[in-house]
This record gives sequence, structure tokens and C-alpha cells, in this order.
Amino acid sequence: MMASPRHGELATATPVLSDTDFEALAGILHSRTGIKLSASKRPLVISRLSKRLRALDLCDFSQYRRLVETETDGAEFSHMISSLTTNVTKFFRENQHFESFSSLVTDELRPSAQRGEKIRIWSAGCSTGEEPYSLATTVLSTFPDAANYDFKILATDIDSNVVAKAQAGRYPEQAVKQASSEKLKDYFELAADGEMVASSGLQRLITFRILNLLDPWPMKGPFDAIMCRNVVIYFDEATQERLFCRFAGMLKPGGRFYIGHSERLTQEAQHYFEADGVTSFCRNTTRIDAR
Ligand SMILES: C[S@@+](CC[C@H](N)C(=O)[O-])C[C@H]1O[C@@H](n2cnc3c(N)ncnc32)[C@H](O)[C@@H]1O
Repeated sequence: MMASPRHGELATATPVLSDTDFEALAGILHSRTGIKLSASKRPLVISRLSKRLRALDLCDFSQYRRLVETETDGAEFSHMISSLTTNVTKFFRENQHFESFSSLVTDELRPSAQRGEKIRIWSAGCSTGEEPYSLATTVLSTFPDAANYDFKILATDIDSNVVAKAQAGRYPEQAVKQASSEKLKDYFELAADGEMVASSGLQRLITFRILNLLDPWPMKGPFDAIMCRNVVIYFDEATQERLFCRFAGMLKPGGRFYIGHSERLTQEAQHYFEADGVTSFCRNTTRIDAR
């Protein structure tokens, strides 16, 4: 007869994830974050959450599921999010958006800021920070004294680990050197340990916050530009629709909205936007009832 596993034995054995536990964990993730885990993600769930089981000295996924279902402080759920989210990103990813944003800064945002208006940009689902630092680099390279005006970039993500990394602003030298924009190097400094550190000029422009996009948003807006790229691709269509309409409600008329290359606006959301380039949109002035 096979002995039942004891605490501490999981370092070598991979725990079994039953259909019921997979569906329950996937259901919790979906209802709280919008992220859908298809059956094909099951091996990923096993490999990533097995590390959590080992760290917690739990024998099986049923125990883990019970912990996430019954905890009151959301602490383990936060680890679960960090384990299961996809955080792939890079500086100046989908560079055409930064070219469009650069023109927006030169033609509209810089003159508005210089007239004393408030300028707000949002990187929603910012991962480890490469996206907001690319936005801030774009701003400073055409408007070097932007931080002396009421010009701010908000960068948010649900995953506390990536927000902490973003806030630290430290990246391998290669990541900065290989960016598609030459400008980036001018705003990073080489630290003694060989990493590149975001300059204080970049850091002054950006505020990082943990935020689940499905929760109520504490900020009032309105925003001049929102980037939410390669985030909703993991959500079901109804959640995408709700989010796109909420983003529309947060944008100024004429404000820009950028989504990822493989994402598309849902049908209802299309009423709020005019196309303005590849997966980039301009908030129209005809529909004002968004949110
Ligand atoms: C693939 S990264 C995209 C990073 C960046 N926007 C880019 O395009 O390079 C997706 C990010 O969305 C975040 N995310 C997923 N669900 C979220 C939610 N419900 N609320 C906020 N952020 C979420 C993940 O934690 C992850 O960092």
C-alpha cells in the first residue's frame, strides 16, 4: 500500500490537481480578477502553484484551495495572483504607440500643461514598469521640464511583486540597451552592481499603485491618455466590455486609448472611440454616457 504523503515530502513529488480543485481555483481567479484559465493552463497552474504548496508545507491542492477560500486578509490570494499572472513586457513595446504618444505630447499635452492645465496619463496593467518608464521617457524627451507642471503618470497593476519591481526602477543593462528607442539610455544610470536605474527625472513623473482593474477605481481622472495593453487579452469578453466602457468614462474627449496588438475593442466600446492608428483610439465627443 502506498503511504500517504506527509508534510515536507513535496520537495520531490508533484502534487495532483483534481478537476474540482482546478475549477474552483480558476473560478476564484476569474471572479476576482477577470483572468480566465482554460483547461490548457492546467500544467502551468500545477507548476507555478506547487512552489506555493511547498512554501506553505501543504500536501495537496485541496488544502491550498481551502486556504484561499477561507482566508480573510487575501494574503495567499495575492501570492496566487503573482504566481499565475503573465508579466511579460519590455521597454517601448509596440513602438508605434510611443510615436503617437510623442506627437500627442508635443502638439497637445505640452501646450495644455504650459497653460496651467492638469495632465494625467495612466498605464493600467504596468507589470514591472517598462511601459510607464517608456511613457515618461517619451514625455521628457520632448518636454524636459514636464515635472515642473501638473503632469503625472499613474502606473498600476494587480500584482504587488511587479509593482515593487517597477517602483525600484532597476533593470538589467541589456534590457535598456536593447530597447527600440535610443532615448531610453539617456534617462537611466548605471549602478555599481551593473544594473540600470531609472533617473530621478523619470521617477518624479510616475506614481506606482497596486490596483485590481475589476475593483472600484479610487482616482477621478479625467485622463489625457490611457494605455491598457496586453492585459484584457486574459479576460472574458463581458469583462473586456465593462472595462473598455469604464476607460472611456475616464478619458477626456479627444483622449487617447492604447490597447495591445492582439486585442480588439468590443462592440459596445466601439461607440466611444474613433480609430487613431494601429490599436490606438481617440475618445469621441458624441457619446458621453460611458461607465
Ligand atoms: C502581459 S503584462 C502587460 C504589461 C504591459 N502593459 C505591456 O503591454 O507590456 C499583463 C499585466 O496585467 C496585469 N493584470 C492582470 N489582471 C489584472 C487586473 N485584474 N487588474 C490589474 N492588472 C492586471 C498582470 O499582473 C500583468 O502584469
